[in-house]
Amino acid sequence: MADFKGKNVMITGATRGIGRALAQAFASAGANLAICATRENALQEAAAELAAFGGKVYTQVVNVSNAQDCESFVANAVKELGSLDVLVNNAGITKDNLTVRMSEQDWDDVIAVNLKGTFLMSKAALKVMFKKRSGSIVNISSVVGEMGNPGQVNYVASKAGIIGLTKTLAKEFGSRNVRVNAVAPGFVQTEMTDELPEDVKAKALEAVPLKRFATTQDIAKAVLFLASDDASYITGHILAVNGGLYI
Ligand SMILES: NC(=O)c1ccc[n+]([C@@H]2O[C@H](COP(=O)([O-])OP(=O)(O)OC[C@H]3O[C@@H](n4cnc5c(N)ncnc54)[C@H](O)[C@@H]3O)[C@@H](O)[C@H]2O)c1
Repeated sequence: MADFKGKNVMITGATRGIGRALAQAFASAGANLAICATRENALQEAAAELAAFGGKVYTQVVNVSNAQDCESFVANAVKELGSLDVLVNNAGITKDNLTVRMSEQDWDDVIAVNLKGTFLMSKAALKVMFKKRSGSIVNISSVVGEMGNPGQVNYVASKAGIIGLTKTLAKEFGSRNVRVNAVAPGFVQTEMTDELPEDVKAKALEAVPLKRFATTQDIAKAVLFLASDDASYITGHILAVNGGLYI
């Protein structure tokens, strides 16, 4: 995997699931980390584990849908780590329902965290990257943002929105040597998918040519690649990590 020795990496939603695996992968590649999530105790627990890799670990409770939280997280991360090289916008939520049953509140909540949160954190980080004329942002979209999914109109719209946001930021900031890409995972093996009934899992796997769910490490490898200098001429790209589910 790419070397991130001495690089300063911010990850949102890093206490569990994909974000936790991302933090471990960047830390084991030598990065200093600034991680945020919604719960202080979960952040402390993650930080204790990540400190074993030897880099600095800054933590902050942040609601990514709040502009002040995003500004202060970036400012504090730069102060604590010294600079900012990579931002991964990973924090995300679901509030699923069929469209006619979905409340306006559930629509607003999911768009606020997933899409507005990605915009606000990117905006805060880009002010730093723009000035230093280097940086890399990786956003976490989803295969459903590309193919649609019944019962998830809010989530799908947020993840499709992230694709448009990624392409636009790539065009706006390319001349400042800031690259902006996204990873679009398919089914990922997490606590959430572990709990699915066996028949539901089997049906989901039928549609996946590689016949397995992604591990969180499969997603981390793709994110680290896009964040690294190995992807130095790649920007505005949406990298599908879906086992062939959507081709
Ligand atoms: N799990 C999958 O199968 C899958 C598939 C495709 C895409 N994704 C995307 O990957 C990302 C991570 O998914 P996961 O399954 O690991 O999620 P998760 O629910 O396990 O973890 C989400 C993390 O985001 C944080 N978070 C939630 N709301 C926040 C807020 N308002 N401000 C700051 N942090 C907040 C939580 O504290 C937690 O650390 C999400 O964007 C998700 O949409 C997941």
